[in-house]
Amino acid sequence: MNSIEISTEIAKIKYWHHHFDFGDGIETKQGKEGKFCRKFQQWILSGIPEDLTDKTVLDIGAWDGFYSFSAEKRGAKRVLATDSFIWQQQELYGLDHNFWRDFGAGKQGFELARKIYNSQVEDYNIDVLELDKDKIGTFDIVLFLGVLYHMKYPLFALEKVRSVTKELLVLETHISLFFSLFPQPLMQFYPSNELSKDVTNWTGANIALVKSWLLTAGFRKAELVKWRKDRAIFHAWC
Ligand SMILES: C[S@@+](CC[C@H](N)C(=O)[O-])C[C@H]1O[C@@H](n2cnc3c(N)ncnc32)[C@H](O)[C@@H]1O
Repeated sequence: MNSIEISTEIAKIKYWHHHFDFGDGIETKQGKEGKFCRKFQQWILSGIPEDLTDKTVLDIGAWDGFYSFSAEKRGAKRVLATDSFIWQQQELYGLDHNFWRDFGAGKQGFELARKIYNSQVEDYNIDVLELDKDKIGTFDIVLFLGVLYHMKYPLFALEKVRSVTKELLVLETHISLFFSLFPQPLMQFYPSNELSKDVTNWTGANIALVKSWLLTAGFRKAELVKWRKDRAIFHAWC
């Protein structure tokens, strides 16, 4: 694809979750929001190991796939991007009251970015709670970024994540700032749209609870590696 074709295809996609800079001045977003996404993505990226040479990487809840493509660029020999909720939204566009339809959210961004990068990243539509090593195998490094607080059953979800992790889990999540003042494992529950007006957000764990969940789910060691406002990055080792 030449630059004009790339720009045309990018413009056809109504909503990009990730900011991509494809070079030659071609970006997926402009202005303030683009700048925020870029900064946030760089912050998350800085919590992922720089060298992924010869590693297998699973990106759970990949959406547009920015972190999957980044893992490939960092030398990973195999990258599998999985998602379900947002990748299925296009199929649900016909339904009434589909909040995401108006956004235009779906899998289009992932597919176009993969084409532009000529990437070998694989994709698989699977719910977190269906993750199973017999279906997808196990991976040296697993990325679970921005997904945990969308889980109604967070500990069960982490057990599923643990079952497909061989070496290291990189977890990024929303945390409750208030409850993180306490050393005990505590959680805020969002029964409706209290967090960011999004009804798919359920939990705001504190730092201690995320670590406890990781150990309970079967990881040998769990550490907080970065913390900014109400977002935190943890590493957990098998
Ligand atoms: C806030 S986005 C995070 C996207 C990306 N990982 C990032 O950090 O930018 C949450 C993602 O989790 C996915 N997701 C939510 N619930 C899921 C589920 N039950 N199974 C699989 N993916 C899910 C959504 O479709 C969406 O892509």
